[in-house]
Order: sequence, then structure tokens, then C-alpha cells
Amino acid sequence: MTTILGLSGSLRRASYNTGLLRAAADLTPDGVTMQIGSIHEVPLYDADKEAEAGLPDAVQSLQDQLAAADALLLVTPEYNNGIPGVFKNAIDWMSRGPGLDLFVGKPVAVIGASPGGFGTLLAQDHWLPVLRTLRTRPWLDGRLLVSRAGPLFDDDGNLVDETTRARLSEFITGFAETCR
Ligand code: FNR
Repeated sequence: MTTILGLSGSLRRASYNTGLLRAAADLTPDGVTMQIGSIHEVPLYDADKEAEAGLPDAVQSLQDQLAAADALLLVTPEYNNGIPGVFKNAIDWMSRGPGLDLFVGKPVAVIGASPGGFGTLLAQDHWLPVLRTLRTRPWLDGRLLVSRAGPLFDDDGNLVDETTRARLSEFITGFAETCR
């Protein structure tokens, strides 16, 4: 069994990106499971707190999930043409302590959704230097930019647009092939 850890970079209840992640979990091919992690409880990174108390429980839990996963899927919103701070903060925490080794060589894919016309194009590109620094294996064979997201999701943030679900299925199947 291949396991992909999926993280959404939004804390919003009806987030498009969290909905995209749930849909990706629904659409993983046979033999692949998506473990959905959460960044909700990750505090702001503070080197003093880290020195005093080590890794917070939420970070430890995410590191354990990453250690158990064959690959990582980042579902990123775009804020001001870049990575949302809460998401980068979570990955920064996860890279601390024994965390850096957990990223090295790991296949990582990035997708995202936004109400705008470019579907997180710039945020996805902003992840590349981070993924390089963490010495991951960014998966670049596919690309999923979900633009004009509003009508594609219901009020609870579930992805209901069949065309987008088909694009997502193709993406996640291709990524899963790399992860096996
Ligand atoms: C945004 N949003 C946004 N969208 C986009 O496509 N490009 C951008 O540069 C920005 N910038 C931006 C800055 C800030 C501070 C906020 C709060 C929002 C809109 C954003 O895509 C929208 O709020 C999405 O709904 C966020 O994703 P979730 O929470 O639905 O997953």
C-alpha cells in the first residue's frame, strides 16, 4: 500500500483547498491511500519556544505522518501571489528536529484552487525553492491550477464540478504512479 500525506494550507471551514484535498483522497487509485493531515494546531514558529520545549505536539504528529508516508501532497491557497504564511509556518516547523530527513528524497506534488483566474499559479511556483531546499523530489509531470473556484465547490467546500474532478483524478493517478 502506498500512502500519500495530504496537507491543505487553509484554515477556513469551507476552504476550496481543503475541499480539493478531500476530493483527491476520494480519487486516489487502488493501492494508494491519502492520509489527510491538519495544520490547524501548529503554533507560530518561535525558536525560543522550540529551545525550551522542543516540538509542539501538532508538529510531532505531522512529522510522524510524514515519516509514515511515501509522498506528500501540498494543496496550497495563494495569498498576495505567494505562499500563505500559515502553510509555510507549518512546513518550517515540520523541518525542525529530525524533520529535515523526513523530506529528503520524498516525492512532493503541489496543487491549489483560487477564485481568481490563475488558480494559484504563483503560489505553486513559490513552493519550488522550498521543496528544493528540503531536498525533496518535486513532481512536475502534472499541473493542476483550479481557477474561478467559486462555482466548482458547494457551500461546505466540497468539489462538485465533474470536469475538475476528472482533472484531479488524472493528476493524482499520475502522481501515485511516481510514489509506488
Ligand atoms: C487572497 N486571495 C488571492 N487569490 C489569488 O488567486 N491570488 C492572490 O494573490 C490572492 N491574495 C490573497 C491575499 C489574502 C491575504 C487573502 C486572504 C486572500 C484569495 C484567495 O484565493 C481566497 O481567499 C481563497 O478562497 C483562499 O483559499 P481557501 O481558503 O478557499 O482554500
